[in-house]
Amino acid sequence: MSTAAVVGIGDISALHLAAIQANPGIDLVAVCDVDPARAERAGRTFGVPAYTDHRTLLRELSPDVVHVTTPHDQHVPVAVDALDAGSHVLTEKPIGQTVAAGRRLVDRAATASTKVGVVFQNRYNPSSVAIRALLDSGALGPIAGARAAVWWYRNPAYYAAAPWRGRWETAGGGVLINQAIHTLDLLTWFLGHPASVRGRAATLALADAIEVEDIASIVIDHDTGVRSTFFATNCHHTNADIELEITGRDGVVKLTGGEVWQTDAAGTRQIASDSQATGERSYWGKGHSLLIDDFYARLADPEPFWIGPADGLVPLQVLREVYAQSGILPVGQDV
Ligand SMILES: NC(=O)c1ccc[n+]([C@@H]2O[C@H](COP(=O)([O-])OP(=O)(O)OC[C@H]3O[C@@H](n4cnc5c(N)ncnc54)[C@H](O)[C@@H]3O)[C@@H](O)[C@H]2O)c1
Repeated sequence: MSTAAVVGIGDISALHLAAIQANPGIDLVAVCDVDPARAERAGRTFGVPAYTDHRTLLRELSPDVVHVTTPHDQHVPVAVDALDAGSHVLTEKPIGQTVAAGRRLVDRAATASTKVGVVFQNRYNPSSVAIRALLDSGALGPIAGARAAVWWYRNPAYYAAAPWRGRWETAGGGVLINQAIHTLDLLTWFLGHPASVRGRAATLALADAIEVEDIASIVIDHDTGVRSTFFATNCHHTNADIELEITGRDGVVKLTGGEVWQTDAAGTRQIASDSQATGERSYWGKGHSLLIDDFYARLADPEPFWIGPADGLVPLQVLREVYAQSGILPVGQDV
């Protein structure tokens, strides 16, 4: 049995708390939010002590695992304090709001005796698992190139509900760092580390509501010699399904409509589907509980968790580099 605490009781904490409740090997011992009303409400709901300061929680309860579900600029401070207190950390993406912040966590994790996992839950989608396995099998032959796109919808009310989301200081960006980072992570997981990144980001439709970007185009040259092109926006009228296509000499694999299709000399066939991931927010994927269960199952393993801070740094570097190239970072803010 492992003890758990959740720090940051907003939208996404619901998925963490549900996964914790559903796992008989996890004992929720505390919740924490800087907003006392949110903390108390969650404490009452789950029958655990509620804290407004994570340091007090760490000192008094020393949970085995701390889930970090705060705004982006609070990820690193809370995670580092938790590692200092001897807890394992499961942090929401991005690992930090800037590359400099993310590096701080990478460095601290490197000397910690406990683990850090990063919530890129889409890697657990059946579609992602199938594409990774197909690439590993070599069935597509040498890869020629790839493309991916995220056409999603966020309205001013989404940002008004949690104003940190639309600000450089607290979010570190917009559609790329908050939504499309999952697909950037998949692209680099599938195709290799970015060797060169060129991109442009801008605020086209939500300029009255947010400081950060709502649209971006990126060309990534991966260290495998493969090029991918990527597009992301929050200005669409709805959350469309993610599109991702990888072309090899001997075939093509395409994620579309939550299904994976392989085309080669034998024809076109479906090889995986995320159709079980239905529901109001299916675009988040079903992966949270899979990833959380897996993190706890591997706590005693000697090696680091397979999605750690160094992995979290990769898409963060891509997107912050695009902001820098676009000239939209606030004066004085680190990349
Ligand atoms: N993996 C995913 O698919 C996914 C989806 C949505 C959100 N997220 C991530 O989850 C995180 C939270 O997003 P959200 O939409 O739930 O935000 P939210 O604003 O709904 O909730 C954040 C909560 O953290 C609290 N908080 C702020 N600073 C704190 C601190 N220092 N200590 C304790 N509590 C603090 C706030 O009061 C708020 O209640 C973000 O990193 C976001 O990117 C991930």
